Amino acid sequence: MVSQEVGGRAFRLAVLPGDGIGPEVIAQAVKVLRAIKEIYGHRFELAYFPIGGVALQETGVPFPEETREGCVHSDAVLLGAVGAPEFDATPPPLKPETGLLELRRSLGAFANLRPAVLHEPLIEASPLRPDVVRGTDLLIVRELTGGLYFGTPRGLERDAAGQEIAINTLRYSRAEIERVARIAFQAAARRRRKVTSVDKANVLETSQLWRRVVTEVAAEFPDVELEHIYVDACAMYLVANPRRFDVILTENMFGDILSDEAAMLTGSIGMLPSASLGGRIGLYEPVHGSAPDIAGKGIANPLATIASVAMMFRYSFELFEEAAAIERAIARALERGYRTADIYRGEGHLVGTEAMGDQIVALLWEEASPA
Ligand code: IPM
Ligand code: MN
Repeated sequence: MVSQEVGGRAFRLAVLPGDGIGPEVIAQAVKVLRAIKEIYGHRFELAYFPIGGVALQETGVPFPEETREGCVHSDAVLLGAVGAPEFDATPPPLKPETGLLELRRSLGAFANLRPAVLHEPLIEASPLRPDVVRGTDLLIVRELTGGLYFGTPRGLERDAAGQEIAINTLRYSRAEIERVARIAFQAAARRRRKVTSVDKANVLETSQLWRRVVTEVAAEFPDVELEHIYVDACAMYLVANPRRFDVILTENMFGDILSDEAAMLTGSIGMLPSASLGGRIGLYEPVHGSAPDIAGKGIANPLATIASVAMMFRYSFELFEEAAAIERAIARALERGYRTADIYRGEGHLVGTEAMGDQIVALLWEEASPA
């Protein structure tokens, strides 16, 4: 996972802007990379590749071989978003989203870390009451390469009577559960030492195995407290008392749903970054999608993507100081009142995508060269 700039070698990044607002937010993240490069003297080599709808249009497939090659020969992958309404009715193998799933799978990125942290200045941006969301600081560890997203058999068929049926398979192996559980416990050991494992063990066999294996893994981490809750209750507690959570460990589909819900604690899904780990090469992407309704308008929030760059520095490059500098710049931009439309509530400075990116760059320089 870790790559060093040995002998002056550059960090090689595969950049996959993708669809919708993807290219707009990625452009801001690249600005931030450039500033870090100049301030700290690192070298980054960026190579761009198509994925999702743009790849379908250019090559006929959502995850072209060229993109796969480019990603596996990089030190880390930075992705914008995939998904385009033109492909709403196409079958899964020819959907933009399938490109992203193939990418995650081919990198072996089985553990998806999604931190949901409320920045105090955004307390009024959440649709939830300030006293509920204040102090939210949780990490969702979502299993990313198993479960319903990948299980076979799957497909659309007809039964003997000619009626349409659709099949997806929810399947987990012990090994898949063990490895993602370890990541969650390791993360919790460095945080507030609590793992909440989320399942549906009152109904599903996969969840019963999940619960049993997670309990076994917990024995390796005696300092970390483990609790098990059902996914429906988790959805409720997230908005009733988010401070009760430290690390939430869950399977792929539950994690997809709960992370969008958790985003609302932070004000906007435009605030949530992610890191997908487990393989040699980490994948970094904002949690939000391609948002076709606002694409091309220059109003998307780039902070989730910029915060994903900070995660890349921390997890793939071990550039801890640089990661912290980016996170401080984000916090300070919010303190100074800069807001994209999704987090604007009538106060402060309403800015577009570019201007928010410029603010982060300016704050990085400000800190680097105190007056
Ligand atoms: C996410 C997204 C993806 C997912 C889609 C675009 C395939 O919603 O990263 O949360 O479901 O994993
Ligand atoms: Mn999602």
